[in-house]
Amino acid sequence: MPESRPAPVTVPVVRAAKRRSGYDALVMVTAYDAPGARLADAAGVDLILVGDSVGNTVLGYENSLQVTVEDMAHHTAAVARARPKPLIVADLPWLSYHLDPADTVRNAAVLIRAGAQAVKLEGGANRVPMIEALVSAEIPVMGHLGLTPQSVHVMGGFRVQGKDDAAAHALELGAKAIQAAGCFAVVLEGVPETVGRAITDALDVPTIGIGAGPDCDGQVLVFHDLLGFSDKVPKFVRRYAELGATATEALARYAADVRSGSFPSDAETYH
Ligand code: KIV
Repeated sequence: MPESRPAPVTVPVVRAAKRRSGYDALVMVTAYDAPGARLADAAGVDLILVGDSVGNTVLGYENSLQVTVEDMAHHTAAVARARPKPLIVADLPWLSYHLDPADTVRNAAVLIRAGAQAVKLEGGANRVPMIEALVSAEIPVMGHLGLTPQSVHVMGGFRVQGKDDAAAHALELGAKAIQAAGCFAVVLEGVPETVGRAITDALDVPTIGIGAGPDCDGQVLVFHDLLGFSDKVPKFVRRYAELGATATEALARYAADVRSGSFPSDAETYH
């Protein structure tokens, strides 16, 4: 983003942010509640993604397939109450945009009314009718291609996508199709660096990579992964802190102090 980027961040600002046009890389991070949104805002990120990764990171599910529109609205509203400057993008969860365009618009409207400024959905050319319906209802749409977690069973696990020429070509065609349908940005997840670069070069809207190499127009990471709350993280994650270990150590000291009688002290007591 340009240094003088306006705050709050808007969809047109993001749509224009191609690195080849001289913009800095876009920074997106997930957040699922008001404190997370405040931290992301204070850190100066450009976009907050209320990801359906909330299923794994917060709600304790194995994958995102259990997450509902109501879950997403609940977490989106919590993020929006922090009134952060980053653009708030909310994930449409599995089966909320797969049936027909009208159903898709109604589900997206729930997330917009909860405080999202845009929605994200997974898939390529098969999603064009839904993307067009959303755009026509004035709802900005971010695409998501490559390793799409909602397709975990079809992919046979969380596997890198686009590894051979035919698969890479299909991803590029999908990216062009969803751009033509109106997506203002596209997340590329779990693809080889060469595919990340080729799709970034082929699109006029920015790509935001997660495990897609350094040439995308931006990067996104999951809050709990980068801050060290997740036990196991994929190879592409850089852990910037070990807050899980710090929190466990602090909780253990609290437990020890309660058991030894050293908490609360006189100063921590009302007299
Ligand atoms: O749900 C999520 O957190 C996501 C990111 C991994 C891009 O979709």
